[in-house]
Amino acid sequence: MADMPVWAAPEITGWRRLPAHAVPRGGITLDGRWRFQLLPSPDASLSDRWAQIDVPGCWTMQDFEDVHGVRDLPQYLNFDMPWPDLPPHPPAVNPTGVYEREVDVPAEWAGRRVVLHVGAAESVVLARVNGIDVGMGKDSHLAGEFDVTHAVRPGEPNTIGLTVVKWSDATFVEDQDQWWHGGVTRPVRIYSTDPLYLDDVHISSGLADGGAGDLTVEVRVRSAGGLLPEGWRVSAWLDGPEPEVELPVDEEFAALAAEREQVSGWLGRVRLRATVPAVRPWSAETPELYGLTVRVFRPDGTVADESRHRVGFRTVEIVGRDLLVNGVRVYIRGVNRHDFHPRTGRVVSAEDMRADLVTMKQFGFNAVRTSHYPNDPALLDLADELGLYVVDEANVESHAYATELADDPAYLPAFLDRVSRMVRRDKNHPSVVIWSLGNESDYGVNHDAAAGWLRGYDPTRPLQYEGAIRYDYESGRAASDIACPMYASIDDIVGYARSGRQTRPLILCEYSHAMGNSNGSLSDYWAAIESTPGLQGGFIWEFWDHGLMQRVTDGRPAPDGGYAAGVAEPGYRWAYGGDFGDDPNDGNFCIDGVVFPDRTPKPVMYEHRELAGPVRIEPDGSSRVLVHNRQHFKDLSWLAAEWELSASGDAVAGRTAADRLRTVPAELPPIPPGGSATVDVPPELLAAPAGPGEVWLTLRVTTRDDLPWAPAGTTMCLPQIKVRDEDRDLITRAGEQIAGAGVGSWPVEVDGEGLLVHPLLASPPTLSLWRAPTDNDRIGGHAARWEELGLHALTREPLDVVRHGERVVVRARYTAAGGVSIAHEQVLTPTVGGVLIEETAVLPDALADVPRIGSVWETAAGFDAFEWFGQGPWETYPDRCAGGPVGAYRADVDRLFTPHARPQESGGRHAVRRFALTGGAARLAVHLDEPRQVSVTRHRDADLAAALHHDELVPLTRCVVHVDAAHRGLGTASCGPDTLAPYLVGPGTYTWSWVLSFT
Ligand code: GAL
Repeated sequence: MADMPVWAAPEITGWRRLPAHAVPRGGITLDGRWRFQLLPSPDASLSDRWAQIDVPGCWTMQDFEDVHGVRDLPQYLNFDMPWPDLPPHPPAVNPTGVYEREVDVPAEWAGRRVVLHVGAAESVVLARVNGIDVGMGKDSHLAGEFDVTHAVRPGEPNTIGLTVVKWSDATFVEDQDQWWHGGVTRPVRIYSTDPLYLDDVHISSGLADGGAGDLTVEVRVRSAGGLLPEGWRVSAWLDGPEPEVELPVDEEFAALAAEREQVSGWLGRVRLRATVPAVRPWSAETPELYGLTVRVFRPDGTVADESRHRVGFRTVEIVGRDLLVNGVRVYIRGVNRHDFHPRTGRVVSAEDMRADLVTMKQFGFNAVRTSHYPNDPALLDLADELGLYVVDEANVESHAYATELADDPAYLPAFLDRVSRMVRRDKNHPSVVIWSLGNESDYGVNHDAAAGWLRGYDPTRPLQYEGAIRYDYESGRAASDIACPMYASIDDIVGYARSGRQTRPLILCEYSHAMGNSNGSLSDYWAAIESTPGLQGGFIWEFWDHGLMQRVTDGRPAPDGGYAAGVAEPGYRWAYGGDFGDDPNDGNFCIDGVVFPDRTPKPVMYEHRELAGPVRIEPDGSSRVLVHNRQHFKDLSWLAAEWELSASGDAVAGRTAADRLRTVPAELPPIPPGGSATVDVPPELLAAPAGPGEVWLTLRVTTRDDLPWAPAGTTMCLPQIKVRDEDRDLITRAGEQIAGAGVGSWPVEVDGEGLLVHPLLASPPTLSLWRAPTDNDRIGGHAARWEELGLHALTREPLDVVRHGERVVVRARYTAAGGVSIAHEQVLTPTVGGVLIEETAVLPDALADVPRIGSVWETAAGFDAFEWFGQGPWETYPDRCAGGPVGAYRADVDRLFTPHARPQESGGRHAVRRFALTGGAARLAVHLDEPRQVSVTRHRDADLAAALHHDELVPLTRCVVHVDAAHRGLGTASCGPDTLAPYLVGPGTYTWSWVLSFT
């Protein structure tokens, strides 16, 4: 092969590789340990030193050295190619893995057709059996199958050899935003069939009138010997009640096929067709599957080959600007998912895939886009079974050379091959509702060619391609049936939907970039989607934080284990671009998921769960509630519910959580999908003496029974309504509550600078205008602006400290390092049990957009529990707080912070009315004048901003407390729209008051 380097020839996509098909095959697994050598290039000679490697496995994750001692480690890049050579040339240094192992091929396989199946290899695989070249294939995310009948020796050990070349012409169309790896990444096996075999089975299972299923099974039969034997026959049975339903042959087609057979003789095609009465339709909410058996018979009537399939009856169509599933306009609550595991890179087991999809289902997702390549077929089996709509995306992304390759005739075969092989493989999955031609490859004739093939082959599903609509949502009709933009703003998509121009559904292929502390305005997107005809949802970018587990070898202390969930094991960290010495790299841009690398849900997941919840409620008079069933296909009978009452008046010292929360079982009425009904709130709840203050009613909605994706009792949503407002201002209430708690008085003491002094305050309250930049702040350009303004380094100059009896008025000037000054006044008044702190700050016009304005202070050591009344229990921010019901909560201080792989502002709680910190005998309480953003962590902002990885943080023993008059929303500026105007903190006068008390 060295004379004819197929790895630099885009027109050759495979050699002797079998066509992709949808006949599930078993066989003998070849997974496990293989002999292995890593060569510096495909031309290098083998040495006699063999190592051992796991298959499937990325060699980049098994820390391999090539024969010259050079290690090939993961490299993270967004869209730049990892080397400078132009397409189609791979670099001279091109890690190449040579794999070998033996397999005993059963003697009974003599006379049968034998196939070697390589699940996936990155990026070119050349296969050998007993030293004979059997074929070559490209596409790192689809199987290569090779007919090895001529090369195997049944009854003897056979040597299987695989050569995997990492970089190739194909890499230019696999230029996704991802870690680059190398190796055999999916299972390998060898199987045999009868010489008369099922070449492919194509199932179409729609819905006919009157609730019947419309089933067509097109079977292709071949004979390894060449001509088909006279008298072969095909049949199919749908598992049914009793007896099984045998599918009749489609007579019209039979006549046609017979004519064709006379011409061909070596390809048999049969179409079976049946109307199946009263089917239970498949949808993401109702993943009903039926078993189907297909058999091909020899002329003597014996079964030559057989396959089992699962059939889901459903339709998917576009009518006007709506995407309909089973005739119903469904919202697409999707997420983008890469194949990822923190220990194995791109290699994922069936259990991992199940856990991913189970997590998605539990948090309200009903759709997944296989960004940006076909996944292991097991993922689609799971999506069929658990119920998720899939946008199945072909492995085409020529990002760095997008314009060039989309029209390059040399790459036409690659585009066609990748799309058609994916579709041929995945066509029978009911979960696949939309095909995607790939990602970020501009738009060219190569796309149109692939789209043309696809429309002919599978007219039953729409297709999409973002590149086709990138510059105009109405363009690119040949290649996209859906307007599927990425990161479009709300104004933009609403504008399109209202323009009168929209002719197809708008479903964002990517939106709400989840990098770090992000996903601001997810609820605003959904408010727009649900109120604007023509908008139907989208796919959050993305599911995973792609942090790879890396041992920390620089002698730093292991983290204290305080943040178990989401954090790498002690002694390890979540590595991102650059951490393996990879150069060039794109840093932590790959840490942008809704789950941590260990699959722990990030706070946004709770936001999403609520927005997607099957049930919503709204007040209907004083003792009734309107309950909405937000599902498309199901009633509420699979859910259980409980009313919970939380009252602010209850959150006084000394009460237990049980005292605070009253729960009563709730009856969910039989509401049809999309319907509503009014229910009475149980009188015992309303009659309960909740004390003064606000009262909130939450409906805790859970799964009633065990489901394949959730045990009984799993929370599905927590819709909430306010049933009584606060009856007086919160500061007056604070006095009553503190007095009620039996707390004595406390004289105000300030030092010479006018700073509050108390033994439990390690650092007094001062003005804060800065936060440790989030990824959105940093990449969106705000962090640099704030640094230039010097918001991170305020100096304080007391102007005067005046005592009026017990009251102290402190005026100060804060000057940011950049030179801008802010006038600030604190009025400190002793009150029952503490001090009332009234603050005023005037932000000048020069500070047009700052991250926060408020007070920051630190407690003495020893406070370890945080109780609050406000939104919770998870982290919430001003533009990401739709999923945090108001209530009284308690948490360990160590667990409040969100341990992002790259530290940043996190751990905030929105709309907090009051909180208390406790530890040992001490208790410190804060009552706020109105619901405010609060955070309590073990970290100062400057330390968070300086750290590049979570394990670099050394938690303080004290608490760092922020009480904000205003806090900038999170937005999504690392990729997409910035924080929206209502959530910005601009110039003007801010006042905020709080009572600080100690017991
Ligand atoms: C998109 C791209 C994704 C990812 C994302 C940013 O443009 O399709 O692969 O790069 O941006 O994280």
